[in-house]
Amino acid sequence: MSGGAAPLLMTPGPTRVPERVLQAAHRVLHHRTPEFSSALAELLELLRPLFGTRTADLLPIHATGRAAMEGAITNFFSPGDTVLVCTNGKFGEMWANLAESYGLDVVRVAEDWNRSVNPEEVARGLAASRDVRAVLVCHSDTSTGVLNPVAEIAAVAREHAALTLVDGISSIGGTPFLFDEWGLDFAVTSSQKCLMCSPGVSFVAVGERAWEAVGLSGFPRNYLDFGAVRQTLSAEHPQTPGTTPVGLMLQVLEALRMIHEESLEAVFERHERMTALLRRRALGLGFNLQGDGLAKRSPTLSALGVPAGVNPADLRARIRERGIQVAVGLGSHEGSSIRIGHMGDIRLPDVERTMDVLEQVLDARERP
Ligand SMILES: Cc1ncc(COP(=O)(O)O)c(C=O)c1O
Repeated sequence: MSGGAAPLLMTPGPTRVPERVLQAAHRVLHHRTPEFSSALAELLELLRPLFGTRTADLLPIHATGRAAMEGAITNFFSPGDTVLVCTNGKFGEMWANLAESYGLDVVRVAEDWNRSVNPEEVARGLAASRDVRAVLVCHSDTSTGVLNPVAEIAAVAREHAALTLVDGISSIGGTPFLFDEWGLDFAVTSSQKCLMCSPGVSFVAVGERAWEAVGLSGFPRNYLDFGAVRQTLSAEHPQTPGTTPVGLMLQVLEALRMIHEESLEAVFERHERMTALLRRRALGLGFNLQGDGLAKRSPTLSALGVPAGVNPADLRARIRERGIQVAVGLGSHEGSSIRIGHMGDIRLPDVERTMDVLEQVLDARERP
């Protein structure tokens, strides 16, 4: 890479932050002022269509996604509760680990990283275990690129009176997400992915049934107390507890304005077009799509099996020398695949440039 310039971030998060969003954070605003309250109220309204909810509470969480997921465990459950977790990727597994670390009983289903979750195996898992309180699933698992069938999973969970908690961290804002229509109870996203902002803040949607679970939960909580966040938001001038990361919130507000200026439908279509282009060119270069049994793949990232004889870490380093940052595979795919993000502010010319560089790097490798 020349001259120390920052590489183009084609990683599956954090992703590029547009200049307009960076500039928005330069305003100095105290978090206990009507000006900030009105920015916060606008932000939360603009966020609703991305979550696909009119009725759920949307709460900012002053931390990255993993903390918001941990908050879901401590707000909705008690030690010894049983949850069923779909673990067909690193982030599904993260749900399971978080739940176990708080003493919940975890029933793992769909453990194969090369397959989508089959709602029938969720139904079987729910039928076989007593009193499962919730099904935890990752919508777009950033480790594999799977897009799990969350609506069908939620329908099954509801039949068994279980909640559905969804990690939408690499999907919300990049592909349709319909919290109300799918009958979800909790969902989370974070600033550094499709919201095209710096890392550090997350947003959760909490539905009515999930609030009932908050009333039953036996864990102590403080910083991640969803009820406390709801209370401060419901003041005449909405606020968040403690010192709000105002700069990050102003970034998110500006990013949401940009998304709605483009229109959410156009943003989704752009993600689909980038995905089609990238995968067509990747297949032409001898890559394959990681995971034979993935029924649906996320339009926000692509996990690509590398051509025979290519080392993914090596490939990543050579691409980086040419000014583009991608990621390598995770888990058992570490030695055989790379992952390319195409979400948020990434545009078709960025995908073209990335694939041109990949092609050059592969060509150079074959030359004596
Ligand atoms: C799907 C998914 N879930 C959870 C996380 C963890 O979120 P964070 O790194 O913001 O704590 C990530 C991060 O990459 C992710 O992609």
